[in-house]
Amino acid sequence: MSRRKFLTYTIASTAGFLASGVLYPMVRFAVDPLLQKGTDTKFVDVGSVNEFGKDPKSVEFRIERKDGWYKKEGGEKATAWVLKHGGEILALSPICKHLGCTVKWEGGGKTNIFYCPCHGGEYTKDGVNIPGTPPNAPLDVYASKIEGDRLLLGPIKQRGGGA
Ligand code: FES
Repeated sequence: MSRRKFLTYTIASTAGFLASGVLYPMVRFAVDPLLQKGTDTKFVDVGSVNEFGKDPKSVEFRIERKDGWYKKEGGEKATAWVLKHGGEILALSPICKHLGCTVKWEGGGKTNIFYCPCHGGEYTKDGVNIPGTPPNAPLDVYASKIEGDRLLLGPIKQRGGGA
């Protein structure tokens, strides 16, 4: 082997070794949250299931959610409209599907609907948008489960369909 080749190989392998020492921690840091398990939203106890009936009731709770690299200490404040619909618990997000204002049950003097005061959006009791009003999708729903007599709410999910 010539002296020139020997120096080229030595410098190239040294540079490669040093570069990997710098790049590996950077790449590992960038993808670490994606490799971790159990980063989903956890279910939260929001009360006795007997508290909820056919009319929507607002509940506030704090939800632990890790969003990639971000996790708020103490969890994030969340609100749901909870009712029994067709024998099942339905936990609706109050965030309007038009531009994100907060909907209220029987707001704006309306009866038996969710009303969004920003642009007059309307949803039926089960959260389906009413045709002719701005929203074009139903309200999102929280996953729910019952343990004993306790109602637990979990990750929020989009619903398909809509009017
Ligand atoms: S944000 Fe609700 S109707 Fe526009």
